[in-house]
Amino acid sequence: MDVFEAIRVRRSIRKYTDQEVPWDNIVTILQAGKYSPSAGNLQNWKFITVKIDGKRSAISQACMQQEWMEQAPVHIVVIGEPKKAERFYGVRGSRLYTVQQCGAAIQTMMLTATSLGLGSCWVGAFDEYEIRRILGLPEDVNVQGIITIGYADEQPEAPPKLRLEHVMYFDKWFGRLENPKTYIGWWSVFNKRTVDETKKLAKKVHKKVKEKISKRVKKDRN
Ligand SMILES: Cc1cc2nc3c(=O)[nH]c(=O)nc-3n(C[C@H](O)[C@H](O)[C@H](O)COP(=O)(O)O)c2cc1C
Repeated sequence: MDVFEAIRVRRSIRKYTDQEVPWDNIVTILQAGKYSPSAGNLQNWKFITVKIDGKRSAISQACMQQEWMEQAPVHIVVIGEPKKAERFYGVRGSRLYTVQQCGAAIQTMMLTATSLGLGSCWVGAFDEYEIRRILGLPEDVNVQGIITIGYADEQPEAPPKLRLEHVMYFDKWFGRLENPKTYIGWWSVFNKRTVDETKKLAKKVHKKVKEKISKRVKKDRN
């Protein structure tokens, strides 16, 4: 699965089967998080993998009683270390960069989960104090987000997303192009891909038919 496909098909999954997630998949997901960008390559994050039933249940409760989370066999709690970023970048580092890069790591891990055939959900609604207590966090770190991971037991409909034309400008606020649809609409990407794939398929079929005909002709001659 290429990256764009993973981005397109990823859905927030809130219903999981009880199938275990292979350990090597968890490691791959954590590795992906590790490769995410961070200001000055600070990597001021920690990823806490939680598999113990009781702990996942406590986390679900601390996430405003989102009980569906309990079913997910794995939680990854993403922790930021704002002090490390503050040392280099001041308040911008602790308040902005730490949040942004942990967000980037969360998304990278979720996309990796998708590419491995796993479902995931980003959970941002939690009682920070409770999560700190459950995980025994020191004072100088904070909770940036929780990812649930497991095999999906639902296939949610894709939620409505705004059209690209509605979320993008060119060159300035409200900057528009006359007819952006002809080259940036979502369909242009997919149409191109579909046309390319259809061409490939047509070539393949053409080759096969040609082979069959020549075989038939040879057979008839003999
Ligand atoms: C910062 C953030 C916090 C979120 N918190 C929650 C949450 O607490 N519970 C939940 O069920 N989904 C949560 N979500 C998932 C969103 O609801 C979901 O991404 C959105 O509805 C779009 O659906 P999609 O992910 O399938 O595209 C969160 C997503 C983000 C980015």
